[in-house]
Amino acid sequence: MPTILVTGGNGYIGSHTVISLFENGYDVVIADNLSNSKMEVQNRLEQITGKRFKFYNVDCCDESALDKVFDENQIDSVIHFAGLKAVGESVKIPLEYYSNNIGSMISVLKSMEKHGVKKLVFSSSATVYGMSEDVPFTEQSPLGMCTNPYGWTKWMIEQILRDYAVAHPEMRICLLRYFNPVGAHESGLIGEDPRGIPNNLFPYISKVAGGTLECLTVFGDDYDTPDGTCLRDYIHVCDLAEGHVKAISFLGKTEDPVSVFNLGTGKGTSVKEAVSAFEKACGHPIKHVFGARRPGDIAVCYASTEKAERELGFKAKYGIDDMCASCWKWQTMNPEGLKD
Ligand code: WQD
Repeated sequence: MPTILVTGGNGYIGSHTVISLFENGYDVVIADNLSNSKMEVQNRLEQITGKRFKFYNVDCCDESALDKVFDENQIDSVIHFAGLKAVGESVKIPLEYYSNNIGSMISVLKSMEKHGVKKLVFSSSATVYGMSEDVPFTEQSPLGMCTNPYGWTKWMIEQILRDYAVAHPEMRICLLRYFNPVGAHESGLIGEDPRGIPNNLFPYISKVAGGTLECLTVFGDDYDTPDGTCLRDYIHVCDLAEGHVKAISFLGKTEDPVSVFNLGTGKGTSVKEAVSAFEKACGHPIKHVFGARRPGDIAVCYASTEKAERELGFKAKYGIDDMCASCWKWQTMNPEGLKD
């Protein structure tokens, strides 16, 4: 079976995707600079799959290091996850985000070109829809209006890839726009392991439930939504991983140089509903207070999943209760996350 290079494959979504690729018969090579993940993930992947994956400690901005990976392996396709991805942090250090995220994409493309590799799945984000009110978001919804440098890097990279495909129509590129990935592998051995205080809702709730954080602040309960809190399309990370396997297969069949798909469930869940679902999963109340809105948040964001279902054959299997249960298992098995 073909070999897939997964950049950022030691990270949260990347590591879950490595498992799905392996379970679908692909060979996998991982390139990761460990800036936002720990080597222990490689041990956990071996525990889950029984395989020790080839691992390269590589910064994807380093083209010569990437060349070595392509020289040493017969790479069929690339899934590019590697990149900085914290919205709040991107506002504070925009140059690092632009240079790293855009620079790494360009280096990967140059190395792919040198080695004749023509299939690429890019880890994009629903953030590219920005402040649009056009929900549910379809792949044709207006783009741009991003509210932070992180989102702009995803929007700019999508444009770079479209322009590159015009110059190289033999390329087969799939842009996957993720909504809100949450949850963990059923084993509880890998999961979302952010450094420091989590910015995102689920890892924060999880740590409050586990007692390592005191109290959740719900950022605003005065939105124009049924219960006043924001709606998001939470998708189980294992569903997201399966979506990448579908995308790799799709690239072997499509005639289009560039394709774009939303990966979501098509369902909006409010913050209050998420808290209640997690309380059901952990079996005890989760302390929370209601605070001010968070700048940059939009009230409602969820996906139209019609195109991914029709063309990719992708449909999310898991619901919010599964997401919470898997998150809670990961939390109880790894209360302090993975060791460095
Ligand atoms: C969800 C909801 C918050 C924390 C971000 C990125 C997006 C993607 C997913 C990468 C919002 C509320 C949160 C808290 C809260 N990442 N919340 N208290 O902002 O929808 O999306 O992560 O691609 O690009 O923008 O996710 O989990 O931060 O917030 O009330 O302590 O939970 O206001 O309504 P978001 P989130």
